[in-house]
Amino acid sequence: MTCSKILVAPSILAADFSRLAEEIRRVTESGADWLHLDIMDGHFVDNISFGPAIVATIRKQTTWPLDVHLMIEHADHYLPRFVEAGANSITIHVEPEAKHDVGKTLAAIRAAGCHAGLSLNPATEFAAIEPFLTSIDLLLVMTVHPGFGGQAFRPEMMTKVRRAKEWREARQAKLHLEVDGGINAETAKLSIENGADVLVAGTSIFRTDDYAQAIRDLRG
Ligand code: DX5
Ligand code: ZN
Repeated sequence: MTCSKILVAPSILAADFSRLAEEIRRVTESGADWLHLDIMDGHFVDNISFGPAIVATIRKQTTWPLDVHLMIEHADHYLPRFVEAGANSITIHVEPEAKHDVGKTLAAIRAAGCHAGLSLNPATEFAAIEPFLTSIDLLLVMTVHPGFGGQAFRPEMMTKVRRAKEWREARQAKLHLEVDGGINAETAKLSIENGADVLVAGTSIFRTDDYAQAIRDLRG
């Protein structure tokens, strides 16, 4: 299948946490499709964000799909807590520094009834995720090195998006191709042209006054 609808997943990381409930209401009423929740542990990435308690708090505020991106070590260990908190899709990292058995963690995500996502950092070769393509619902191509919002998009990552798109087309597979990092109207266009159908965006939505306009601009 080709996923023709472009989905926009605002990253809560750039929201104003002092009024999180209001931010969630505003962004979902402005046309967001999913909410992207960036979980950072200070080990796999050089930053700490929030954990399952905040995911559960967000779950109480909205029925929208929660797209949980685990940038943590030992995702297999913490997985049940994010499932319990109400995640709909859970994305893990393929790099050895994430310290888990990728195949087993993906299987555990699906067994828990969630969509399984796999992500790779800019420095990681596409070949690393290839063995898992038939075991996932979503491939998240990082377009910045993970850890912080507001970084510049890396256009050379489009080679990976294109390869995934070709793989998807050749097999008529149902696979979302998501990009994350530095996504704005211009880089969204480039990502869509290369085959992405899910756009994660923090800064370009939450650091504007008109979320609806920002989301429309991303869809192009
Ligand atoms: C990066 C995170 C992203 C980040 C995107 O480590 O995974 O989701 O919040 O932020 P922007 O859109 O500001 O680059
Ligand atoms: Zn993310």
